[in-house]
Amino acid sequence: MKIAMGVTGGVAAYKAAELVRRLQDKKFSVQVVMTRAAREFVTPLTFAALTGNKVITEMFGGENGAPANLESAIEHIAVAQRIDLLLVAPATADILASFAHGEAGDFLTTLYLASTAPVIVAPAMNVNMWEHPATRANLETLRTRGVHVVDPEEGYLACGMTGAGRLASTEAIVEKVCHVLGVRDDFSGQTVLVTAGPTREDIDPVRFLTNRSSGKMGYALAEAAARRGAHVVLVSGPVHLPAPEGADWIPVRTTEEMRQAVRDRAPGADVVIMAAAVSDYRPTEARPQKLKRQGERLVLELEPTPDILAELGRDKGRRVLVGFAAETEHLAENSRSKMARKGADMIVANDVTQQGAGFDADTNIVTLFLRDGREIPLPKLSKLEVANRVLDQVLQLRKISG
Ligand code: CTP
Repeated sequence: MKIAMGVTGGVAAYKAAELVRRLQDKKFSVQVVMTRAAREFVTPLTFAALTGNKVITEMFGGENGAPANLESAIEHIAVAQRIDLLLVAPATADILASFAHGEAGDFLTTLYLASTAPVIVAPAMNVNMWEHPATRANLETLRTRGVHVVDPEEGYLACGMTGAGRLASTEAIVEKVCHVLGVRDDFSGQTVLVTAGPTREDIDPVRFLTNRSSGKMGYALAEAAARRGAHVVLVSGPVHLPAPEGADWIPVRTTEEMRQAVRDRAPGADVVIMAAAVSDYRPTEARPQKLKRQGERLVLELEPTPDILAELGRDKGRRVLVGFAAETEHLAENSRSKMARKGADMIVANDVTQQGAGFDADTNIVTLFLRDGREIPLPKLSKLEVANRVLDQVLQLRKISG
């Protein structure tokens, strides 16, 4: 997994070198990005030597007197598409303010805006700056946007004062990185069955009914569960995504095929997550020959498909059952009634009318509705992060169901 690590201008910048090493010990690949101020404290050469990667310091290249160029900017922006996480350590009050206000004056701030990957900041600064209402407000803004914060520690500060503001320990930052990226073992020994993608219902040998599901949410769930040590079974409708490493991948086309695959594998599963956008209706008969153009109107007769989630809900055992809801109105009401009707323990609901939610996006904005009445709205997050938040709740439900 690839981490972009932003180093900003504070005395603690020297600790970033040790942090890079510890992240590499965990097999993360690290691309360091330094602000101009950071370079007053440490040289890019230190990080280049540690990572084996050129350190990004300027938006348009132009480092060490070389001319600025567009390729360099394009290459740098490509970093935003490739990374799994953006970590900023140490993060100054200045960078927190820039992130909070959406400024894009240098490479690091541009990367923050251009990337959909999760973000962790580890602030370090003078105690008065840390406690200032402006810094508090900026952090609050970032938190509500889903940015993770590793709070600084109390102690002696380089400015001679004592108080909160010292960069968190390397261990605490590495632990947070592992947690956010879902690199942990809390699902080991558990089998998680995930369905993903659309289904196709044949009209004739060349035509079918389907929907716009890309499968990204389901594949993110499968990947997240696998990273957390689960044995993953992924039952997938037709999508253009590579099968996640290590998962049992079962490709299906129709609702009936998906139903059979789920029925076969559900008895061995501890958790079933129905992220697939299953077709609710199918043609009453799939014509054996291609339908020819005829007459003025053509009426297709449809019948309901079997509800796979509801069937599982009727014979649930101790399995945790998670359903999805894509709604355009009355999100809470529809999700709660869906949960009750289908016997699910949790519904992951998204309002597909919101920008950055739903089909084919890399991000999602969901609310988790739980059996016990709790309602957890999540900010706009990458689908992998949504997956990890869903799995966090699943784990709690597993503990309750024993
Ligand atoms: N689902 C299923 N089998 C179906 C249809 C849906 O297992 N035949 C599952 C989906 O995978 C999803 C959940 O049920 O987890 C919600 O699906 P949705 O189609 O939104 O629910 P419906 O009950 O059909 O409600 P409505 O169409 O009124 O929104």
